[in-house]
Amino acid sequence: MSTNTANKKGRIITGMRPTGRLHLGHYLGVLKNMVKLQEEYECFFFVADWHALTTKFDCTENLVEDTRNVVLDWLAAGIDPEKSDIYIQSHLPQTAELHIYLSMITPQNWVERDPTLKDLAKMLRTGEDETKPNVSYGFLGYPVLMSADILSFNVDYVPVGIDQVAHIEITRDIARRFNNIYKTELFKEAKPLLTTTPMLKGVDGQKMGKSFHNDIKISDDEETTTKTVMKAITDRSRARRDDPGHPDKCEVAFEYWKAFATEEQVKKVQQECIAGKRGCADCKRELAAIINEQLKPIRERRKYYEQHPEIVDEIIKKGDENARIAAEEVLSKIRKAVGMFQL
Ligand code: TRP
Repeated sequence: MSTNTANKKGRIITGMRPTGRLHLGHYLGVLKNMVKLQEEYECFFFVADWHALTTKFDCTENLVEDTRNVVLDWLAAGIDPEKSDIYIQSHLPQTAELHIYLSMITPQNWVERDPTLKDLAKMLRTGEDETKPNVSYGFLGYPVLMSADILSFNVDYVPVGIDQVAHIEITRDIARRFNNIYKTELFKEAKPLLTTTPMLKGVDGQKMGKSFHNDIKISDDEETTTKTVMKAITDRSRARRDDPGHPDKCEVAFEYWKAFATEEQVKKVQQECIAGKRGCADCKRELAAIINEQLKPIRERRKYYEQHPEIVDEIIKKGDENARIAAEEVLSKIRKAVGMFQL
């Protein structure tokens, strides 16, 4: 953690559920932003393994590996443990304690009307074993647990995607309610910092995701990446190599060009394509080379940390410790505000 927080613009927290290795959609949409934010803010980044349990309490066999992979992808992308604290949610008892206080004051209908939770619950109900109770007590507490993550650190901002904004709204409502009930000004109202980068499609034009087998992972090697990029959909109406192409109808490949190449490179591709001087296969081979070039330092960092698990453990230990110190400072005020017996 940067020990000098005096010149920072405020405190930030964000978490990610451990759902497997991260892909380029995560990289462009979230990770790049986190890497930038750590220069300006005091940052806590955590793996939300308790949140993973809210939906996958009965399949935990990959939880340890998935948790480690999130940390590896973060470090690879450039999260600097000297600047940010990386911790594991379940290593922070303060969050669990705060979850209890918050769950007492949160009206039941606030969690029941959370739109993101409703969507998630719908997904849980479809295609599931009907004898299984799908929506648990802990699942209903999803936004309350998230509020506890955020309020344990009394942060100023929470960088998230648009789908998480409803949860941050509840967090603000809960913070306000806590302040009202206990006649305190303890909690700030954390604001979402929206990640602005547009979503990157999968190579088949659908939403990028591992279950669709259309994603490029940060941890994929060059060869795999090239193979995947070669599958990217182009202009479907173009039959022959020297037909004039339509970059605006090129569904995926041109989008990737815009996401990864310089403006100059994009312009050149566009002109050559329209003039019929650029075949799709050559174009994608070139694109793959550019993506691989950008991922090179990231992959090298990932390899380094993969080969030194003891260093990663130390980073997490240190992050856990710093997070505990920061959260304990807030929790001691919370216990007092609630009116708990303390020795
Ligand atoms: N719910 C978030 C997601 O699925 C992860 C998360 C848990 C989180 N707690 C948080 C994000 C607190 C920001 C702040 O992406």
